[in-house]
Amino acid sequence: MKILVTAGPTREAIDPVRFLSNRSTGKMGYAIAESSAERGHDVRLISGPVALTCPAGVMVTNVISAAEMLDAVLDAFEWCDALVMSAAVADWRPVSVATEKLKKSDMSATLELERTQDILESVVLLKQHQIVVGFAAETQNLLQEARRKLKSKGLDLIVANDVSRRDAGFEVDTNAVTLVTAATISALPLMSKRDVADNLVQWLECR
Ligand code: CTP
Repeated sequence: MKILVTAGPTREAIDPVRFLSNRSTGKMGYAIAESSAERGHDVRLISGPVALTCPAGVMVTNVISAAEMLDAVLDAFEWCDALVMSAAVADWRPVSVATEKLKKSDMSATLELERTQDILESVVLLKQHQIVVGFAAETQNLLQEARRKLKSKGLDLIVANDVSRRDAGFEVDTNAVTLVTAATISALPLMSKRDVADNLVQWLECR
């Protein structure tokens, strides 16, 4: 299969030295790209800023912002058989980006924000044969939120990820996820992110 994976956070610039972002390290997405490549698939990875090296055999496109990630995903979507959106895309960005570093004396205590475009909602409109997988990183109402996003974003599968656990989600090497489709729920035990990735890629292969 041709598998397109997104990973890591996005950064939404405030000025040349400040940005809005989140705790994603990219470990889950890189593990999915690595697993896919080792299982013989053709893999492209679109990565936000992370401190990881690209897995062997994977073609990487580095991006910074949600807008850049959207463009990169739209460029590659037609190519792929499956898109796995494991990136933690920022939902909001500053309305204006200062070209010079803002001085604290010039800054107000309130930052004006606007919504970023939802990448999954945008690509699902272009969907033909592609399988589209999203992630739901939640701290409460995990399955309820996962099901809501599965439906509202038009996904084939959503990986529900309880990020309130210390041994799952952001920054750690293990994860505990539930694979949710419109018809099935499969809770995986705590395992390495690489094992989660293998399970996910096997699910894609069986589709
Ligand atoms: N996502 C996306 N584009 C965005 C934000 C999120 O494609 N601008 C994708 C993520 O990559 C993930 C899925 O949508 O696969 C769910 O992301 P999440 O942040 O959990 O969902 P939101 O739609 O931001 O919902 P909420 O803020 O209500 O939790």
